[in-house]
Amino acid sequence: MRVIVTAGPTREYLDPVRFLSNPSTGKMGFAIAAEAARRGHEVTLVAGPVALKTPNRVHRVDVTSAREMLAAVKKAAQRADILIATAAVADWRPAKCAAQKLKKSQMSGTLKLVRNPDILKTVKGVRKIGFAAETNDVLAEAVRKCREKGLSFIVANDVTKKGSGFGTDTNKVTFVFADGTLKFFPLMTKARVAKRILDEVSCL
Ligand code: CTP
Repeated sequence: MRVIVTAGPTREYLDPVRFLSNPSTGKMGFAIAAEAARRGHEVTLVAGPVALKTPNRVHRVDVTSAREMLAAVKKAAQRADILIATAAVADWRPAKCAAQKLKKSQMSGTLKLVRNPDILKTVKGVRKIGFAAETNDVLAEAVRKCREKGLSFIVANDVTKKGSGFGTDTNKVTFVFADGTLKFFPLMTKARVAKRILDEVSCL
């Protein structure tokens, strides 16, 4: 199969030296890309700014913002079978990015934001797997996102639980399907979670 994986955070700049972002390290997405390539799939890894080595036999496209990530995913999706979206995409970006560093005297204390595109929802014509990192109502939120974004299934995890937060090497996940079917897993390494996801993908 031809697989696209999104990974890491996006950065939304307000001037050349400041941005909005989140603590995603990209580990989950890189583990999936590595495992998919090991299984002989053709993998395009669209990565936000992360400090990870490109897995063997993976085609990596580096991006910074959500809009750049969308453009890279749309391009790769023209010849792909599946999109696995692990990226922690910033939902909002500053309405303007100043060409030069903003001086505090130029800033009012209020930052105007505009919505970023939803990459997973926008891309059509491929099977889609999402991730839902939640702090509350984990399963209900996962079912909602699975339906709204037209996903084959979504990988839900509670980021407040020990071993499941940003940057850890482990994750405790539940696969949530649009019809409400749930598959629970114990705490596993991200490498093992990647294997379970690709096992599930091979049954779709
Ligand atoms: N996602 C995406 N593009 C976005 C936001 C999210 O592709 N602009 C993807 C993520 O990669 C993930 C899934 O959608 O696979 C769910 O992301 P999440 O941030 O949990 O969901 P949101 O749609 O942002 O929902 P909410 O803000 O209501 O929690």
